[in-house]
Amino acid sequence: MDRLSLDIARCMAGPGQERGLTPPMLEELRPRLQRARKVLLQNAGTGMLGWMDLPRRDPSGFLAFAAENRGKHDSLLVIGIGGSALGTTALATALLPFHYNELSPAERNQRPRLYVLDNVDPDETVAVLGRLDLSRTLVNVISKSGTTGESMAGYLVVRERLEAAVGGAAVKDHLVFTTDPTGGVLRKIGAASGVPMFDLPPGVGGRFSVLSAVGLLPAALTGMDVGALLAGARDMAEWIGDTEGWDDPACTFAGVQYLEDTRLGRRVSVMMPYSARLRDLSDWYRQLWAESLGKAVDRQGRQVNVGPLPVKALGVTDQHSQLQLYAEGPDDKVITFLGVAEFAETVPIPAPGPEDEALAYLGGHTLAELLWAEQRSTAWALAQKGRPSLTITLPRVDAFSMGALIYLLEMATAIAGELYDVDAFDQPGVELSKQATYALMGRPGYEALAGEID
Ligand code: PA5
Repeated sequence: MDRLSLDIARCMAGPGQERGLTPPMLEELRPRLQRARKVLLQNAGTGMLGWMDLPRRDPSGFLAFAAENRGKHDSLLVIGIGGSALGTTALATALLPFHYNELSPAERNQRPRLYVLDNVDPDETVAVLGRLDLSRTLVNVISKSGTTGESMAGYLVVRERLEAAVGGAAVKDHLVFTTDPTGGVLRKIGAASGVPMFDLPPGVGGRFSVLSAVGLLPAALTGMDVGALLAGARDMAEWIGDTEGWDDPACTFAGVQYLEDTRLGRRVSVMMPYSARLRDLSDWYRQLWAESLGKAVDRQGRQVNVGPLPVKALGVTDQHSQLQLYAEGPDDKVITFLGVAEFAETVPIPAPGPEDEALAYLGGHTLAELLWAEQRSTAWALAQKGRPSLTITLPRVDAFSMGALIYLLEMATAIAGELYDVDAFDQPGVELSKQATYALMGRPGYEALAGEID
């Protein structure tokens, strides 16, 4: 299978790009990249960083469950948040047909429509539930901790409606849980009520979990090619394992982002796909990068308050929204273009009539040619203004490429964590607001905090 490519030329210093990376900067970072990579690769297979081992895990459990359930449900409702939802949405946008939920059952190959509820907005919740015939719906509640308030609230709301729709005894036939193998309320509920459950292996944090049951069960149920996703991720793991330093794509992505931030003061990392299929991949990446790298203290306990700001954009749409800022606003951004070498569809742009002469330059091209031209011209125009960009090009958007890209960005995030010397796998900054929510919702034990907030 073809591999994706990564081009960092437009980040390098040169004529018109004085504030760019230089070969000495790259050389200086090389030993640290080697160390970072070594630390991570040493942990592969030990279970410490279980997400690194996901590409080699056997998917037959998810596939068997999906096969058993094929044709039984009109809809699949995923309830989860953060890392328990964003990966599924990214995969669905990339790999299911556009407007998948509007297709007929035959067009969906008897696979369920897919809804992802990752918020507790009451209006949205009612609207989503209003679209579902719950007697023909499978609900996948996903929570690594099995305690997250938002997801548990969603579960309680949906369970009550399921009980009304199918009767208490049949509720378990409409549920499947994905959660920690031992801890958490969800595990207890599932065990007590006979709900089928899939485990998150140890060492797999939420935002690194898309290649586990978290992302792969909804993928299998909706007919995505789970085997190819894992094969792509394995291929990327091999590529990373076989190369070093600036030849290793994960080191390269992490190293460039790190140098742009720490040496050149470009604290904003924009991800801008030129493929509507990759729109939600940026959203997934945004969480991965932000929650992993935005930290108050380093691993020695020193206050550092580091972390580049990830921003998502979409070409060409955001050329008419964000590009003005990227080109002429503060020089604090590095743009990652995600390009696609081959689209599934070819759409010729018809030659205009004599009365539309001003549009003649478009005629005879295809929409893909226009999209490619816009991507190249945007990268070029930014470079003219001294604004750096790197480009990742996928051969096409398919399961293999998505698996590779996901694994690349996960590894790059972990390497960046080593470079910033922070724990990329915790998220202590979100704890306080969680506790405050418990206090405001009246959870026993949080009375003093409730008083303090009031
Ligand atoms: O990356 C993370 O760890 C978080 O974003 C979690 O995925 C999110 O908080 C949801 O947690 P859980 O899956 O435990 O419900």
